[in-house]
Amino acid sequence: MLGIETSCDETAASVVVRDESGRGRIRSNVVRSQLDEHAAFGGVVPELAARAHVEWLDHIIAQAMDEAGLALDEVDAIAATAGPGLIGGVLVGLTTAKALAASLGKPLLAVNHLEGHALTARLTDGVAFPYLMLLVSGGHSQFVLVRGVGDYERWGGTIDDALGEAFDKVAKLLSLGHPGGPAVERIARSGDPKRFKFPRPLLREERLDFSFSGLKTAVRLQAEALAPLSDQDVADIAASFQAAVTDIVATRSRQALERFKAEFGGAPAQLVVAGGVAANQEISAALRAVVAEIGARLVVPPIALCTDNGAMIAWAGAERLALGAHDKLDVAARPRWPL
Ligand code: KG4
Ligand code: ZN
Repeated sequence: MLGIETSCDETAASVVVRDESGRGRIRSNVVRSQLDEHAAFGGVVPELAARAHVEWLDHIIAQAMDEAGLALDEVDAIAATAGPGLIGGVLVGLTTAKALAASLGKPLLAVNHLEGHALTARLTDGVAFPYLMLLVSGGHSQFVLVRGVGDYERWGGTIDDALGEAFDKVAKLLSLGHPGGPAVERIARSGDPKRFKFPRPLLREERLDFSFSGLKTAVRLQAEALAPLSDQDVADIAASFQAAVTDIVATRSRQALERFKAEFGGAPAQLVVAGGVAANQEISAALRAVVAEIGARLVVPPIALCTDNGAMIAWAGAERLALGAHDKLDVAARPRWPL
């Protein structure tokens, strides 16, 4: 399966093999990040992203085929992200996939980007259904129960900002640059996580939702109150913010796993993490403590497969194709597409 991903700021293509027994193998996985194009703007500019995808996608696909040691007509099918995401970029990838499928006479798989994240742990770790996915990226923060291919149930998610977006906004107001997550994590190492007691919005409520915008506002107000900020102030704010979100994510994950245990008594409780924020060591350490405490299993795929990539799209396409699914050539790109 050739997989194409262009829904945000990564131009990516990959060749993945799924064998008869359902095991996956990555033959190539090429990702070109557009970080440099967007750096000056402090975030992803959709029009610039779409143009960069147009410029690069052919080369990235050629490189993925080359590294896989295959010619284009040797793949069985073509998969591409059809949404959700920035519509200009999605159109570039999906239209390219349609052209390849039509000209090569191969099936087309229009993949939901979230399904790609949801199924990656089966490619990397062979995780069996059912499991709970915590997706925490720059665009999404949600719990999804994964019962099977195409069988998903959203258990909760953010009602405002995504977690990665909150990291990025806090980094911006502390002048730490973009992307913010790694910068906040780095500077937080020399900070005092207890100096500021930032709010944990929604945490007293039972529902499995997140809210990060009030927290971001509290951080802004604190920064304004202290201005001009010393290096130590910046480190302490970053550490205190990270402590707050870590507490929120760990508490919610514990609740979600308790619910999982209650609903699937016989099955092992499994939490799979996806999205760029999975790279955060504080958060993953807190999740490890939660699963140890309640006797569950934590799966964090290699970080290159947690962030956006073509292999997750190829794999989701392969899982669907194995069940006899494929899409018509007039399938639409969808900027919004809940799982
Ligand atoms: O999954 P991803 O690469 O792209 C999408 O959003 O689809 O996630 C990127 C997000 C950014 O918001 C970035 O700041 C955040 O993940 N991130 C982190 C860390 N590394 C990346 N957030 C916290 N700690 C990190 N170490
Ligand atoms: Zn993503």
